Amino acid sequence: MRDNEGRIIDYLRISITDRCNLRCIYCMPEEGIRQIEHERVLTYDQIVRVCEVLAEHGLKKIKITGGEPLVRKDAVKLMKELKEIPGITSVTITTNGVLLEQYYDALVDAGIDAITVSLDTLKPDMYERITRRQERNRVLKGIQKAVTENKVRIKINCVPVFGLDDQDIFALFEYARESDVDIRFIEMMPIGLGKQFSFVSEDSIKEMIEEKYGLMTLCHEKRGNGPCRYYSVPGLIGKVGFISAVSHKFCDTCNRVRLTSDGFFKTCLQYDCGVSLRPLLAKNATKEKLWDAMEQAIRLKPKAHHFEDKKADNKDEVRAMSQIGG
Ligand code: 5AD
Ligand code: SF4
Repeated sequence: MRDNEGRIIDYLRISITDRCNLRCIYCMPEEGIRQIEHERVLTYDQIVRVCEVLAEHGLKKIKITGGEPLVRKDAVKLMKELKEIPGITSVTITTNGVLLEQYYDALVDAGIDAITVSLDTLKPDMYERITRRQERNRVLKGIQKAVTENKVRIKINCVPVFGLDDQDIFALFEYARESDVDIRFIEMMPIGLGKQFSFVSEDSIKEMIEEKYGLMTLCHEKRGNGPCRYYSVPGLIGKVGFISAVSHKFCDTCNRVRLTSDGFFKTCLQYDCGVSLRPLLAKNATKEKLWDAMEQAIRLKPKAHHFEDKKADNKDEVRAMSQIGG
């Protein structure tokens, strides 16, 4: 499937729940979150149906996100079902890692292709300041298990929030020293609560890394589904990656669409563009009807985001990041 800009869309990110067991300050408020009512949340059968239709039109890769996907009951069962859809070559998950130790074996059995753990810092006080919870040790145990067993690719996502020194980002590099774990830096995007923070640019992080480790070299081989650019760093086995939506816009090669837990098929992260599939799914619409709705939405996928434009746009997304899944 292609949009009107000629971009090939083969990657779907599914937020299976907006619930989370952390409260990261740039993603969720401490209290007073408007949660999606349970009756509005798509069933797993409905999610599978959407994926089957898309797979018939070129969908290849699926990412499971949240909120925190592992807090939804039987999430791993869903992943296994998605893996079995003809045409789907990769099913991956992004998790905060709190429940990773508990579910690691099941994820491996389900055939998951990669696990990304969101972990912004290893420092206990800083971890608690960012996530507002004391779950650091559980996350580290989960990562340790995944690294030791080494059955699935592991990546760590770090959003610099308070500065590179305060978060001691180099401590994360230890995971990449002995194992092929990728460490990826994500620029804070001005979406939802993220608007209150400024982003730390790719270039400033690179400068700091090169000062400490020596020159990095760009990797040309393809790793992962998305816009991350990876570098080899002297002394590290894993790569260091940058997802820099603000300083290095990558909209012209965007290959993705999203599905929220209440069934909104979303074609751009920044804008409220797309179509709600819930009414169609609720009345058991045919595959053709579902595809018609999605095809039309894909065609109209916005050309680019305008994060640099501070003016609010009436098409701006009003959903929180916890409802979109990044
Ligand atoms: N900007 C950039 N990344 C964000 N994430 C959540 N909110 C933002 C934001 N405003 C990240 C999480 C997680 C991924 C799914 O998205 O830290 O790693
Ligand atoms: Fe939960 Fe991830 Fe949002 Fe943190 S960033 S509150 S872990 S969904």
